[in-house]
Amino acid sequence: MTATVLVTGGAGYIGSHTTRQLVQAGYDVLVVDNLYSGHAWAVDPAARLHRVDAGDGAAVGRLLRDHAPVAAVVHFAGHIVVPESVADPIKYYRNNPIASTNLIEACRKNGVQRFLFSSSAAVYGEPDAVPIPEQAATVPINPYGRSKLVTEWTLEDVAHASRVNGDADPFQYLALRYFNVAGASLDAALGQATPEATHLIKVACEAASGKRPDMKIFGTDYPTPDGTCIRDYIHVEDLAAAHVLGLEYLLEGGGSTVLNCGYGHGFSVREVVDMVQHVSGVSFPVEETDRRAGDPPRLVADNTRVRETLGWAPRHDDLALICRTAFDWETALADRVARAG
Ligand code: UFG
Repeated sequence: MTATVLVTGGAGYIGSHTTRQLVQAGYDVLVVDNLYSGHAWAVDPAARLHRVDAGDGAAVGRLLRDHAPVAAVVHFAGHIVVPESVADPIKYYRNNPIASTNLIEACRKNGVQRFLFSSSAAVYGEPDAVPIPEQAATVPINPYGRSKLVTEWTLEDVAHASRVNGDADPFQYLALRYFNVAGASLDAALGQATPEATHLIKVACEAASGKRPDMKIFGTDYPTPDGTCIRDYIHVEDLAAAHVLGLEYLLEGGGSTVLNCGYGHGFSVREVVDMVQHVSGVSFPVEETDRRAGDPPRLVADNTRVRETLGWAPRHDDLALICRTAFDWETALADRVARAG
């Protein structure tokens, strides 16, 4: 029998890529998205989109009952902009941990005992050393990272209670801690469509495609070889594949755990900007400015656990491909916006 899964945020960037891979893997996918930052066109036509808020426990509960049995929930929906979380923490606590708690409760009330959660490397804050293993201290330095950690704790406690209460089939979850997700689908059908993006590769591609006149490098005096911050950029299709494997793992009886999702090596801001200029063939102006608040010098994943637990292996570990797909997507997005008038 085809398993039904409910994907929140399936109209968003990572959620839309994962929804498409889940459909291709043979799942029956229900997408729950309020279209706050997602787009209906990004949802695979074989998935069923319900314009519902993921934190609306009553509405999600109805969907879970209407489509029972739902084998698992994959939870992407949430706010993701770190500076916005600093400026408006209540928005982040309401929409991330509170909405997630309502969703988890709806799962518990309706017998959905498998849960896959989008967490973030932001839970580590400023790590003492890289690469970062999952058992490193979690000391987030902004409300976004804290809000993700609260939901990890909620899941841990719910799973514990389910075991202690003697549930026949106890609640099990996976929290995937994403490093820097970037790139777009190889066919340029899906990509990051959020307006006013702040992420480096997206910003650089907007500069390359003329959507913005220039870009800034935030800080050139970090203790790194070229003085700019180092990040572990993971192609969105590899991250989506980790979700499909994670779901299989949970549905086959795998136990609750947290897994880093990154490639295990990083690139500096300068290297990324140079690569976007190279693949686009556009030498857009780049201004070197002061540091941005709250940027750790290096964030690189130790990905041993995700490889061992899920049998995951990167297929697109290639900065040129990441930047090229992001740039191609930016062009496709501009066409889409122009067509929409
Ligand atoms: N950067 C620039 N110029 C820009 C944009 C970014 O120099 O216009 C630099 C940043 O200062 C940083 C690096 O590029 O050094 C990467 O910045 P991003 O904003 O692309 O990504 P972050 O590393 O800040 O954020 C990522 C995830 C977040 C997560 C965070 C954890 O996107 O969701 O890691 O620290 F919270």
